Amino acid sequence: MQLVEHKRNPACGAYESLQFVQNSGNNFLKIKDVKVKMSNQYDFDKVISRKDTDCAKWGVADGLFGEKDILPMWVADMDFPIAKEITAAIKKRADHEIYGYAVPGSSAFEAVVTRMKKKYRWEVKPEWIVFTPGIVPALYVAVKAFTHPGDEVVIQSPVYRPFWSAVKDNGCQVVNNQLKLIDDRYEIDFKDFENIFQFSRNPGLVPVSSRAKMMILCSPHNPVGRVWNADELSKMGEIVTRNNGIIVSDEIHAEICFKGSKHIPFASISTEFEQRSITCVSPSKSFNLAGLGASAVIIPDSELRKNFNRAKTGIVPMVNCFGLSALEAAYNHGDAWLQECLEYLHGNLNFIMKFCEKQIPKIRIIKPEGTYLVWLDCRDLGMDKMSLRELMRKKARLGLEDGFTFGPGGEGFQRMNIACSRSMLEEAMTRLEAAVNSIDSS
Ligand SMILES: Cc1ncc(COP(=O)(O)O)c(C=O)c1O
Repeated sequence: MQLVEHKRNPACGAYESLQFVQNSGNNFLKIKDVKVKMSNQYDFDKVISRKDTDCAKWGVADGLFGEKDILPMWVADMDFPIAKEITAAIKKRADHEIYGYAVPGSSAFEAVVTRMKKKYRWEVKPEWIVFTPGIVPALYVAVKAFTHPGDEVVIQSPVYRPFWSAVKDNGCQVVNNQLKLIDDRYEIDFKDFENIFQFSRNPGLVPVSSRAKMMILCSPHNPVGRVWNADELSKMGEIVTRNNGIIVSDEIHAEICFKGSKHIPFASISTEFEQRSITCVSPSKSFNLAGLGASAVIIPDSELRKNFNRAKTGIVPMVNCFGLSALEAAYNHGDAWLQECLEYLHGNLNFIMKFCEKQIPKIRIIKPEGTYLVWLDCRDLGMDKMSLRELMRKKARLGLEDGFTFGPGGEGFQRMNIACSRSMLEEAMTRLEAAVNSIDSS
């Protein structure tokens, strides 16, 4: 009997098939030197124009950044075509030619349940799942559902901008547990975290922060790229639950983790955390489906779920039929593509890290553990925030996100989306180097 095992060769990125043969002692022996090379299924180097596709990233870049020929590396989607299994599912749905109101069927619930179990051994019940056409609407609904105007909601800056707006637009106040940058790695300030929630228990003692009952956690974190570990999640969960709060955990970037980092859903840590959690998941970032708006909010506690559903009524529409087909196909059949995509992204990350180290040492990369959004520390350039913005836009002609827009702690940083072809990334880094050299020589 022969066995074949497919292994990825990290050196060339291709698959190798190792063949084994069973001997008389029922052991499998590797057949020496028999290696069959299989090529990658996807070509992430291929540059595909997104012009005239109603594409936000490319379509509005020149206007948004105020220059011609901007390389857009801002909004978080990828310039790569998606897994062929997902395309096939969307085409199959399109062939039906009736696109009326949609409602998720049992297979959509099952796809989320199976994904959580397979990736994280988290046992989710189908009835805990609420589908939404995106995670930002889910964040807004969560704030509306679980707070009263004037309440305080905890976030950790620098952080994804809608975290700020979801709180403020619902008439609540942000309490910022600002992350600390220690030796090129972001850490949670637990002393401050504890104070924020403890004060809420003792309003008589410290009146400034008396109503924090909810936190919006970014896990993995956009833009600093941390994948929170079990210790950090447990510590946060313990403090929040002890103080009777809830955690809305935005886990949209969960499946983009680099080697050595593993995403852990906050709710999967304990039953107690589960009951105090609202977990937002979606294939939109990891499988490049953001434009289809399909996400799932997992709310184990029935009372919280009831409130969430009530708050979204009349405001948040159902996911459309193509989004549902794509979500199912991604979760059920997208893993081969995702694996290749992660390897390509890892290559991109290594490329820019080496480039900066050698060619632009004044820009340091905060190495992300997850997400394809890279946080560039430009503070050594010694520029104020508007001069730095000008440098990126006018001199480098790069469409990056200004760090200061993510809140305190973001000043002097820029966020770069590296989910693009290597050739585009090379062009971007060359432009960046020339722009930085131009200030050095002026
Ligand atoms: C942390 C985080 N949450 C949510 C979103 C957007 O979610 P959606 O497009 O599903 O509303 C993003 C997009 O970049 C994000 O980084």
